[in-house]
Amino acid sequence: MALAKNIYLVGFMGTGKSAVARLLSCNLKRETIDLDTFIEEREKRKITNIFTKDGEAYFRKVEKKLLEELSGCKDLIVSCGGGVVLDEENIKIMKENGIIICLYARPEVILKRTKGSGHRPLLNVANPKEKIEELLVLRAPFYAKADYTIDSSDIGVSTVVDFIIKNILPNALPR
Ligand code: S3P
Repeated sequence: MALAKNIYLVGFMGTGKSAVARLLSCNLKRETIDLDTFIEEREKRKITNIFTKDGEAYFRKVEKKLLEELSGCKDLIVSCGGGVVLDEENIKIMKENGIIICLYARPEVILKRTKGSGHRPLLNVANPKEKIEELLVLRAPFYAKADYTIDSSDIGVSTVVDFIIKNILPNALPR
C-alpha cells in the first residue's frame, strides 16, 4: 500500500490500541509507532516520571510535538495515548494526513484490563473505577471526533483488526 495515509489509533486507556496496532502492523506490513514509547525514548524516562516531575501539561506539550513530527511520515500506524484527542490541534494534525480510529470499551472492562498496571499515572488513584467513569464522560465528545469507532469490550484483538482491514481501510485509504 504505497503512499497511504497514516492510521491513528486513539481511545481510552485499556481499550487495546497497542495490541491492535501491533497485529495490524503485521498484517499490513506497515511500521507501527507507539506514541507513549516514542515520548519515553525522547525524554529518556518513564511517563509516570514525566507526570510526577513536570506535570500533565508538560507531558501534553511533548505529546503534541512528537505527534506533529510523526505526521510528517507516511504509511505509519500510530498508537496514541488516551488523552491525545483532548487537544483540538492534535485532531487536526491527525486528520490532515491520516484517519483516526477510536477504540472504546465499557468502564468495567477498562478496569479489568488496566488493574495493577501501575504505569498509568491518571489511574494511580484510590478509586480507579470512579476515575475511569468520570474521564470517559468528560472525554466522550473528544473521542467522538474520530473517523471510526469500534467497541472492543466483547471482541478480541484479531476481530478488531479484521474489522479494520475489511470494513474501514478499503473505504479510507487511497491505494
Ligand atoms: C493517558 C494515557 C496513557 C498515557 C498517559 C496519559 C491518558 O496512554 O499517554 O498516561 O490521558 O489517557 P495509554 O492510553 O496508552 O495507556
